[in-house]
Amino acid sequence: MVTDRPLLEINDLWVTYWGRSLLGLSGRPFHAVKGANLSIRPGETLGLVGESGSGKSSIANTVLGLVPAAGGSMRFGDEDLAGMGTRYPSNVRKQIQAVFQDPYSSLNPSMTVEEIVTEPLRVHTTMGRSERRQRAVELLELVSLSREHLERHPHQFSGGQRQRIAIASALALQPRLIVLDEPVSALDVSTQNQIINLLYERRDALGIAYLLIAHDLALVHHISDRIAVMYLGHIVEEGPSDRVYRRPAHPYTKALLDAVPLLDPQAQRARRAARKAAPAIDAPRVSTTGCPYQNRCPHVMPRCQTEMPPAYAVDGGGTASCFLHADRPAVLPASGTGKAA
Ligand SMILES: Nc1ncnc2c1ncn2[C@@H]1O[C@H](COP(=O)(O)OP(=O)(O)OP(=O)(O)O)[C@@H](O)[C@H]1O
Ligand SMILES: [Mg+2]
Repeated sequence: MVTDRPLLEINDLWVTYWGRSLLGLSGRPFHAVKGANLSIRPGETLGLVGESGSGKSSIANTVLGLVPAAGGSMRFGDEDLAGMGTRYPSNVRKQIQAVFQDPYSSLNPSMTVEEIVTEPLRVHTTMGRSERRQRAVELLELVSLSREHLERHPHQFSGGQRQRIAIASALALQPRLIVLDEPVSALDVSTQNQIINLLYERRDALGIAYLLIAHDLALVHHISDRIAVMYLGHIVEEGPSDRVYRRPAHPYTKALLDAVPLLDPQAQRARRAARKAAPAIDAPRVSTTGCPYQNRCPHVMPRCQTEMPPAYAVDGGGTASCFLHADRPAVLPASGTGKAA
């Protein structure tokens, strides 16, 4: 059930990596996330999309406490996650679980399925062995596997089955939030749909919130309540899933949707013709001032080169950080203009 109070609230989040010089001294900082604002309510799914290198995993890893926040705030219920750095106490760690992209490397090959699925129970609870085994069977049933799989090892399973095992393990502690970083990218299309359907069912039955990261907007649209779009460390658009998918407000979101092939051949031909007629757009370049998308944007205006757009309210809900919407009220200041640690 979705309620109004955010479960996770991220404000002006910065994630910074420090390069290393040849002498091993800290080099220049690289800001992978520049002032991101996001929130997820209990039971809600937020889809986070954007091209490779836009900073999606940096946000995921910061929420998971694997990478510290360099600036800004992250609240999870009443807990101040950003203040905890990478040392989350057990009561917080239990409530935020993760499923990663590669089911071939994320499961320990020397452990049995029973050990993998019950590992979180062993670490975080006082459950005895037989109780854990009973729970392992229940968890496997939740992901459409069964008791006979308990003694097997990961190499005896397909990619889709391995991802089911990873999901069972993530569900073990009844978390309030699961961070899913490209959970289906390594799978074939029909298996992708099965895993997405499974996630959908489990979420509705158990009331878990998801932060679901993917490249493919069409795929996240089916399962997400809201979608946020990232470009070069900035959240450039955010809003209700259907509005973002059907009426994208930021030119970058439109470009992402144009990259999804259309099933209707006539529509696909029309799109190709329109693309040929459009002026060539430069490859991404990091601009030091103004909008991060200015070098690729077909609508670029003079002010885009000097000013960072704030997040304007969009009809139908959500925001877009783009001066095309400057006739609407600005609801958040421009991201990336605050302090980086
Ligand atoms: N540990 C690190 N040290 C230095 N730079 C990093 C580190 N991790 C990520 N980066 C850089 O930060 C930027 C954002 O990376 P991130 O992995 O968050 O992107 P992403 O959106 O998840 O991309 P992908 O879709 O390829 O997974 C990239 O330019 C990446 O090279
Ligand atoms: Mg990533």
